[in-house]
Amino acid sequence: MNTATPILQAERVSKRFGRPASLLERARRVHPPVIRALDAVSLAFRPGEAFSIVGESGSGKSTLARCLTALHTCDGGRVLYRGRDLALMQPAERRRFHRRVQMVFQNPLAALNPRMTVAEMLGEALRVHRICPADQVEAQMQALLERVRLPGSVLHRRPHEFSGGQLQRIAMARALSVRPEIIVADEVVSALDVSVQAQIVNLLITLQDELGLAIVFIAHDLRLVRHISHRVAVMYRGRLVELGDSEALFASPMHPYTRLLIGSAPTLRPAHVSAETQQVTEVAASGSVAAATGCVFRTRCPEVMPRCATEVPGLRVAAAGRAVACHLVPEPRSL
Ligand SMILES: Nc1ncnc2c1ncn2[C@@H]1O[C@H](COP(=O)(O)OP(=O)(O)O)[C@@H](O)[C@H]1O
Ligand SMILES: [Mg+2]
Repeated sequence: MNTATPILQAERVSKRFGRPASLLERARRVHPPVIRALDAVSLAFRPGEAFSIVGESGSGKSTLARCLTALHTCDGGRVLYRGRDLALMQPAERRRFHRRVQMVFQNPLAALNPRMTVAEMLGEALRVHRICPADQVEAQMQALLERVRLPGSVLHRRPHEFSGGQLQRIAMARALSVRPEIIVADEVVSALDVSVQAQIVNLLITLQDELGLAIVFIAHDLRLVRHISHRVAVMYRGRLVELGDSEALFASPMHPYTRLLIGSAPTLRPAHVSAETQQVTEVAASGSVAAATGCVFRTRCPEVMPRCATEVPGLRVAAAGRAVACHLVPEPRSL
């Protein structure tokens, strides 16, 4: 097993979202509900590894990606880059972090500046981060386009002139231009046609392999990640429910939710839209958020037990490299 120091690490990262109180709520002096988007999630990404995070929509994947790349500050736990807490970084360290940890988004059109040509975007990144001398910028841009399999002719075009797949290639070229160690790819193929999805996924694997990059591939479709990751984390409603080596996890899923996902889940109960399952937490008059009770999956779990309503299942080590947050797993050792 690869035991190298993690590049990036989440330690019990939590993030809640509230909204401003409505007039009625203010009149009644009640606090608006708070969404627990992430609840004490711990994960560590190793150099060069292909890691996937899966979970249905709303499970907190993008919130985690944003906490990992410092687009959100977490309000519980911490994020470490090469062992250094992001919250404690000095400006120079922080700049290095922002260069070495890149994110690619689901909607590239929203993430790319519509007024800039590809040459301007790539050129700016290369210059701002002083990646190469000015006289090599042109050659560097050509090399980046080759990496993402785009012709040099795209350089003088703007984002609206491209298809979704081409835009994701440009977003990847932009991310690669600053020589990252890790790319967090948040649902980068979800908005693309199925035929194009495979091309982009293949490109990501090739880049990961050719450049020794670590990739955190986020998807809501477990099937998509099976052959492209060394390790997989499964999230459900803000919690990490299972973590393991990809092959082992697919061969013997342990959490009932993972099992349902892998078995294509004909028996998965529909999500109940209730305060309970929406991770909505009432806020006490003091403004403090009550601790969650029980397992977040229990309302849809085919194997639910009385204990699941009262005890939050901690993440337990179930086998080498495998951790599962479920009371069915007997191992009492907590991570
Ligand atoms: N900026 C935000 N403000 C309020 N709620 C948010 C915000 N971002 C995410 N959420 C809520 O947090 C939960 C997790 O969302 P998200 O991280 O986007 O999940 P995913 O990417 O897995 O679909 C959802 O309930 C979502 O509505
Ligand atoms: Mg998302």
